[in-house]
Amino acid sequence: MKNMSNTKNGFTSKLGFVFAAAGSAVGLGNIWRFPYLAAKYGGGIFLLVYILLAVTFGFALMVTEIAIGRKTGKSAVKAFAALDKRFSFIGYIASAVPIIIFPYYCVIGGWVIKYLTVYLTGQGVEAAADGYFDSFISAPISPIVFTCIFIFITAVIVLMGVQKGIEKVSTIMMPVLVLLAIAIAIYSITLDGAWEGFMYYIKPNFADFSIKTVVAAMGQMFYSMSLAMGIMITYGSYMRKEDNIETSVHQIEIFDTAVAFFAGMMIVPAVYAFSGGDKDALNQGAGLMFVTLPKVFETMYGGKIIGAVFFVLVLLAALTSSISLMETIVSIFSDKLKVKRQVICIAVMLISAAVAVPSSLGYGVWSNVQLLGRSILDFFDFISNNIMLPITALLTCIFVGYVIKPKAIEEEVELSGKFRLKKLVRIMIPYVCPVFLVVILISSIIGYV
Ligand code: PFF
Repeated sequence: MKNMSNTKNGFTSKLGFVFAAAGSAVGLGNIWRFPYLAAKYGGGIFLLVYILLAVTFGFALMVTEIAIGRKTGKSAVKAFAALDKRFSFIGYIASAVPIIIFPYYCVIGGWVIKYLTVYLTGQGVEAAADGYFDSFISAPISPIVFTCIFIFITAVIVLMGVQKGIEKVSTIMMPVLVLLAIAIAIYSITLDGAWEGFMYYIKPNFADFSIKTVVAAMGQMFYSMSLAMGIMITYGSYMRKEDNIETSVHQIEIFDTAVAFFAGMMIVPAVYAFSGGDKDALNQGAGLMFVTLPKVFETMYGGKIIGAVFFVLVLLAALTSSISLMETIVSIFSDKLKVKRQVICIAVMLISAAVAVPSSLGYGVWSNVQLLGRSILDFFDFISNNIMLPITALLTCIFVGYVIKPKAIEEEVELSGKFRLKKLVRIMIPYVCPVFLVVILISSIIGYV
């Protein structure tokens, strides 16, 4: 994003904007997080709730954030301040989220690098064996080394200001990732016993519905679409006035949801195939993708090469997201401190690496440390996605709904054409979303769901 801010006019085309925003949105959230949540929280019913939330709530919030950014031409903290000084605190809360997410995001990024090296060094068979993943993440040193490599790569890209180049590469790679995911997904459902899993994944079963499904789907939606953390405000601030916000949001959402959908389709049916539909296997949580995919690749013709290509693409998707996370953190501090950007970059890199260590150790030597009944990484994930994101979203909805009023958003969107779903936003932001968010927050806090 630094490069963007250097370019006075921001994005030079609508597609440029869509790809950059999609680069931030599509990442580990889609490929690693979505499938394990879908597996755990009811399969088809989770998918249905997620899609319903994405096309209503997610749509309204993304339009709102991009419009705020474009209207003010500023990133989160300054954007809220520019609209109403009293509410700049919302920008601060939003900006705190990437600071919490970034370190543990890098732990998962490290796992991706590990698996990439596994496939590049021809150890795909070993990786498919039971217990391989557990013995990797429970080791004290190796996962931390991979995490540090991931943070280092991200930091070098941000330091050198070559984000644009990475975004270009990933613009080309992203469609390849989607096609590969579709191919693997189709292969997965042909595995013996996978059909039942496929049905579990796409057919909503209302008996599986619970408030946990909604809480999880909601947190996932914010996370996956990079919402309620100031990111889309910043991207909006670089968007040209003549580009259509509404159609851009549709494109970003469709792309983001499609990647998540196919990632789930690669993994959930395969879990059934390899476990015989054992519920415990569906409940594995954060390790699901890393345990399941090597087994899929092992049975596949050319699986070793496909595995390597797959992890390269996932790494790229993870990097475009981690870059946008780190950029945000660096710009928050560069705005506030009179210190060189390079120094801030290095400080963020070192501090994030230190903060990532407990998240990594939480799966091994510190597995007895439980926070709210969760491992350390899961705790950060829970606090950011299920508590902080709904709070920021709630404050944003109240601010837009009752302080600046939805009209301000509508006018901004209408600068570039007709606003087809204006009514949806007008109802969602002031009325539906706040009520919904309060319910979600209460159940999240009471039940530690
Ligand atoms: N949306 C990203 C994903 O789904 O992986 C995660 C993310 C990236 C969140 C960048 C926040 C962000 F600033």
